[in-house]
Amino acid sequence: MNVTEAIRKRRSIRKYKEGVKIPQKDIETILEAAMMAPSARNTRPWEFVVVESAEGKEKIMNIQPYTKMLNTASLAIIVCGLPKAQEGNCSEFWPEDCGAAIENLLLQALELGYGTCWCGLYPVMERVTAIKEAFGLESVPLAVVALGVPDEDPAPRGFFDPSKVSYIK
Ligand SMILES: Cc1cc2nc3c(=O)[nH]c(=O)nc-3n(C[C@H](O)[C@H](O)[C@H](O)COP(=O)(O)O)c2cc1C
Repeated sequence: MNVTEAIRKRRSIRKYKEGVKIPQKDIETILEAAMMAPSARNTRPWEFVVVESAEGKEKIMNIQPYTKMLNTASLAIIVCGLPKAQEGNCSEFWPEDCGAAIENLLLQALELGYGTCWCGLYPVMERVTAIKEAFGLESVPLAVVALGVPDEDPAPRGFFDPSKVSYIK
């Protein structure tokens, strides 16, 4: 699958095949893709927490109500921002940088045959605080990504909307 196909095929997956363990090498390939994303001044202001345990996934579902797909997902990746990495170096671009990392992660996972669902935390500060406490994090949890083998196959639905584009010629 090339990038053109992956971008157009990707959908949020909310139903996964249960009981599937993701091989460590695939987890690392997916996280490597995330860490290949561009970042302001190459500060790489991110950190990833891979949650495989049922107890860990339960904690997330209790905090963020729209993560129920974790009931069937193999794991959750908490994508965290590191604002400190940019202090005195550049403006606070860490949310954009983490967003770029997440998109890389979603597309790499797709190419390896996995489905994903990006679930928002930051800037909903009650979620951020609760996830930080639940997992003892120093960094800022920005999103949770559910990952597993899809048990649904939603049709592509993105489209080109010319009204969103203007040209300065
Ligand atoms: C910042 C952000 C937060 C999101 N949060 C959730 C969420 O909490 N739960 C969920 O099921 N989907 C969530 N989504 C997925 C969107 O609902 C989904 O991307 C959108 O409806 C488009 O569908 P598609 O991803 O299948 O193309 C989120 C997506 C983004 C980018």
